[in-house]
Amino acid sequence: MAEFLIVYSTQKGQTEKIVRFIESDLKENGYDVDVFNVKEVPKNLNLEKYRAVIAGGPVLMQGFPRILKKWVQDHTKILKKMPTAFFSVCLGILQKDDEIQKEERDIVLNFFEATHWHPAVWSIFPGALSYTSYSWLMKRIMRSISRKASGDTDITRNFEYTDWNEVRKFSRDFSLTASNASQSR
Ligand SMILES: Cc1cc2nc3c(=O)[nH]c(=O)nc-3n(C[C@H](O)[C@H](O)[C@H](O)COP(=O)(O)O)c2cc1C
Repeated sequence: MAEFLIVYSTQKGQTEKIVRFIESDLKENGYDVDVFNVKEVPKNLNLEKYRAVIAGGPVLMQGFPRILKKWVQDHTKILKKMPTAFFSVCLGILQKDDEIQKEERDIVLNFFEATHWHPAVWSIFPGALSYTSYSWLMKRIMRSISRKASGDTDITRNFEYTDWNEVRKFSRDFSLTASNASQSR
């Protein structure tokens, strides 16, 4: 029986890369882990068999993918009864501007309000500018947004901003929270 369940959504793959990193870190530390893209979670999956659940997704147009929100809403009742964690992947968090940082935190807090789910641990990770996978128009839109934020503008390549030490810390902190919670049950 796996101990951790990770459910994620991704558009261009960076969230999935973060999920795979967390999966490896948990496995290295002796935990069993099941991972599902939210599009492929088996309908009859029994969440109660897990010790803890992590969900993660990218911020796209100021919010998380609807399919991720729906999955959380469909399972809020069970998620509330167990140790859970959430992570957001975005680019706004790279900006030093306090207002923009607050906006990124508010996107997460609004997600929690909307789903009535308040995980014990949550974090926001910088994602990636995956220019080479965007359409012609999207490349230009993303470059223009990035230019305004004094970010990277070479549309012939991709830029990864994720701090893997930060992701490792999230994984370690949460596995500790989950272990402590099951010991006190
Ligand atoms: C169409 C689109 C919309 C985006 N909207 C936002 C946004 O509103 N705020 C933000 O901080 N980042 C935004 N981003 C940046 C993504 O969150 C970032 O690229 C992330 O790494 C994407 O994760 P994924 O590769 O798992 O899809 C957007 C990216 C795209 C392609």
